[in-house]
Amino acid sequence: MRQAGRFLPEYRKIREKHEVLAICRDPELCAKVTAMPVEVLGVDAAIMFADIMLPLEGMGVKLKIEEGIGPIISEPITNSRSANALQKLDAASDVPFVLDAIRLVKKILNGKAPLIGFSGAPFTIASYLIEGRPSRDFAKAKSVMYRDPKAWHVLMEKLADSMASYLQAQVDAGVDAVQVFDSWVGCLSPQDYRQYVLPYSQRIFKRLEKSGVPRVHFGTGTSNFLEEMRMAGGDVFSVDWRIPLDVAWRRLGYDVAVQGNLDPAAMLADIDLVKAFAGDILGRVKGRTGHIFNLGHGMLPEASAETAAELVKFVHESTRSE
Ligand code: CP3
Repeated sequence: MRQAGRFLPEYRKIREKHEVLAICRDPELCAKVTAMPVEVLGVDAAIMFADIMLPLEGMGVKLKIEEGIGPIISEPITNSRSANALQKLDAASDVPFVLDAIRLVKKILNGKAPLIGFSGAPFTIASYLIEGRPSRDFAKAKSVMYRDPKAWHVLMEKLADSMASYLQAQVDAGVDAVQVFDSWVGCLSPQDYRQYVLPYSQRIFKRLEKSGVPRVHFGTGTSNFLEEMRMAGGDVFSVDWRIPLDVAWRRLGYDVAVQGNLDPAAMLADIDLVKAFAGDILGRVKGRTGHIFNLGHGMLPEASAETAAELVKFVHESTRSE
């Protein structure tokens, strides 16, 4: 989760000279930043350095990413006309640099760690496209959902199809797993999730069923509708820190894998407390297979790389099977 971005000093140094999207568009730089956390922190997997909004440029959306704020859209989507105007993504011609970077990262990692590709989920991307910027209440997005369901449908369907083909292109280029980020979906009621979001997320997971790679379904604030999330699909489910891991896993079912659960803010504590938090999570796993140790959301900019590296070591030592 935001392994490189924000907090690694080696990354911050590169960021002094290059914008986030410029790093994404430069395969060599992108590959270097992607592999960095495996080398510096010793984590077990690398996640592609990209952004959920990056492929939107290929669909005709003008955007920038502002530090400390997030994605800003020049002309937000407001109705069926602007939703219809959105072009479908053709990954090979629209974002060739992502696919080139994947091939480069695979070479650098050389089997040392698997590589995770990702996309945003339709709801989380749609919320940025409609709101125009990060939002607290998602009032504009919900208003399109309730007042103009036709526009909502067009937008969500287009995003689902585009993200499915984007993820498949990443698999074809060599990623070992894919993760779909529905970061802000927790703002919805279970009923609205079922009606306005589930069918579109489901469309993505279905399309990737035959890809042969594990599919990770990420969300935060989803403890009220884990069962619905499960229905939408995925092989691995992210849970945040608002629910104990064992409770979430029981509800999701032991036939799926789980990840997440550590509060990103826990990383700001002294290392002994960080280890206590991690130990609590591992205790709830009770030695079951199918648990990926992870934060429940992205690393905070204030987190220290030393603490992160120590945590990785602690988890490895606590879970190593002799
Ligand atoms: O190692 C990595 O950091 C992985 C690369 C990555 C980025 N964005 C680059 C980035 C990943 C996996 C993402 C996903 C992403 N982007 C999500 C889904 C995951 C999540 O955290 O919920 C979302 C919602 C976005 C949209 C976005 N981009 C936000 C909300 C922000 C935060 C703005 C900030 O500075 O706090 C961004 C900016 C962004 N994307 C950064 C990075 C590394 C911030 C650091 C920087 O400016 O260099």
